[in-house]
Amino acid sequence: MSEEGIYRSRLEPAFPEATRYTSSIKEDSWIFYEDIEATIAHDFMLMKQGYITEDQFKKIVSAIKKLLENKELVQTDTYKYEDVHELIESFVIKEVGIEIGGLVHTARSRNDQVVTAVRLKTRREVFNILREILDLEKTLLKKARETIDVLFPFYTHLQQAQAAPLSHYFLGYFDILMRDFDRIAESLKRINLNPLGSVAIVGTSLKVNRELTTKLLGFHGLLENSFDAVSSRDFILETVSNLNILMLNLSRMMEDLIIWLTSEFGFFTLPDELAFPSSAMPNKKNPCILELARARSGRVFSSLAQLSMVCKGAPSGYVRDLQETKPPLIEAIETVKETLKIVRITVENMRENRERIRSSMEQNIIALDVAERIIEEARVPFRLAHKLVGEMVKRSLKDGRGFKNIKEEELKEVSLQILGRDISPILLNILSKSEETLVSLRTSAGAGCQSNDLKMIREREKMIEDYYSKLNEMIQRDRDAKKFLEGQVARIVEGFSLP
Ligand code: ARG
Repeated sequence: MSEEGIYRSRLEPAFPEATRYTSSIKEDSWIFYEDIEATIAHDFMLMKQGYITEDQFKKIVSAIKKLLENKELVQTDTYKYEDVHELIESFVIKEVGIEIGGLVHTARSRNDQVVTAVRLKTRREVFNILREILDLEKTLLKKARETIDVLFPFYTHLQQAQAAPLSHYFLGYFDILMRDFDRIAESLKRINLNPLGSVAIVGTSLKVNRELTTKLLGFHGLLENSFDAVSSRDFILETVSNLNILMLNLSRMMEDLIIWLTSEFGFFTLPDELAFPSSAMPNKKNPCILELARARSGRVFSSLAQLSMVCKGAPSGYVRDLQETKPPLIEAIETVKETLKIVRITVENMRENRERIRSSMEQNIIALDVAERIIEEARVPFRLAHKLVGEMVKRSLKDGRGFKNIKEEELKEVSLQILGRDISPILLNILSKSEETLVSLRTSAGAGCQSNDLKMIREREKMIEDYYSKLNEMIQRDRDAKKFLEGQVARIVEGFSLP
C-alpha cells in the first residue's frame, strides 16, 4: 500500500502491486535535486505571497535540508511512494507535522511540478551535452590541423572518387556537429520556460507570483497557458529528436572509421588501450567502442519512438502516460553524453597511416581534376573532356598502367578520336603535374584543398572559442539564478545553501 498515502484522501490504501506498477520513483532520482530546488522556490514565493510565514518556511526548508543531507532516505522503501514528489512532501510532513508540512503543496499540482523539474534538469543536461560537443569539435579541429598535408581518397559509392587533404574530412564532421550544437542550443529557448503555477490544468485563484518563480529558477520566460504548460511534452520530443540526429551523424562517422580501421584499408590504427580482443582468436584487435557508438544510435532512436508512441494518443491535459516520457529522455541524454566523450577520446588517439593512405590511392582518382584542366586550358566542352579522360582511363587500365603514364602517341590518337583535333601537348603538360598540384588548383569555396582547409581551420578555431564563451554565459546565468535563489532563502534561513 502507499503507506504514507498523503494523496489518498478519498481512496483506500492501494495494493502494493498497484503502487509498484505506477511508481516513477526509480527514474525520479534523475530530477530529485531539481524537484527540491523548485519546491524551495515555490514555497519561497508562497511566503512572499503570504500563504506561509517566515517561521513556517524556515521549518520546511530545514526538513528539506535534512533530506538532502541524508541521501539514503531517498532510496529506502522507494516503492511506497508514487513518485519523488510524494516522497519529498511526505518527508517534510513527517518532519514538521501536517500543520506546516501541509503548506508545501499549496497552489501546486504534481502536473506542473513534474514538468518544472524535468525542464530544469533538461536545461542542465543540455549544457553538459553542448560542452561535450564542443570538446569533440576541438579534437576534430586539432586532427584537421595535423592532417592537412595528408592527401586522402574521398569515396562515393564506397569507390575512390577524388583526393583531398584528410583535414577536409575532419572539417566536414566539425561543421556537421556544429549544426547539431546550434539545433540543440536553439531548442533551449523552448525548453527553458516555466510551467510552475499552472497547477493541475487551468491555474488557480490563489495569488501565486509566476514571474518570481521564473526568476528564482532561472527560466527565461513563462510557459503562459496553464493547460499547455501541464500537457505539453514537445520540448522532450524536440530534445530527443535533436539528439537522434546527432547520434545518426556520429554513427555515420563511426561507420567510416570502422571501415578505415580494417586491415584491407588500414588507413588508421587504434591504440591497444582503445581496442578489444577476442576470447578465442589471439590475433584480434576489434574496434568495439566505435561499433557500440554506432549501435547505440539505436537506443536514442528507440527513445524517440517510445516518446512518439506515448505522445501520439495521449489526450490533452495531464495523463499518467506522460510519466513515460522521462525514461526515454534520460536514456537518450545519458547515451549521447557517454558516446560523445568516448568518441572524442578515440578520435584523439587514433593514428593515420600516411604511407598506407598514399599507396592505396588509385591514380585515376585525379581524373576529374585532369578533365577540369582540359576544359580550362583547351576550352573543350565538359562532356567531351569527360569522354577523353574516360578513354584514357580505359586504355591505361587495360595494361595496368596509370593513366598518367600514357605516351604522347596514344594521347594524340585519343585526342583526334574524341575531339577531332590534337591537344596532346596540353594533355602531356597536365599529366606531368603531381596530384598535390592538381588538388591545390581547386578554387571553389569550401573545396577540399590545403589553402581552403587552412582558412576553414583558422576561422573555426576562432569560432569555437566564441561558442565556448556563449555556452559559459548560459551556464553562468543558470548559476546566477541558483545563487539568487540561495541568497533570497538565506535571508530567512541562515546559512542556507543549495547543493
Ligand atoms: N510521477 C508523475 C509523472 O512523472 C507525476 C505527476 C503525477 N500527476 C498525476 N496527476 N498523477 O508524471
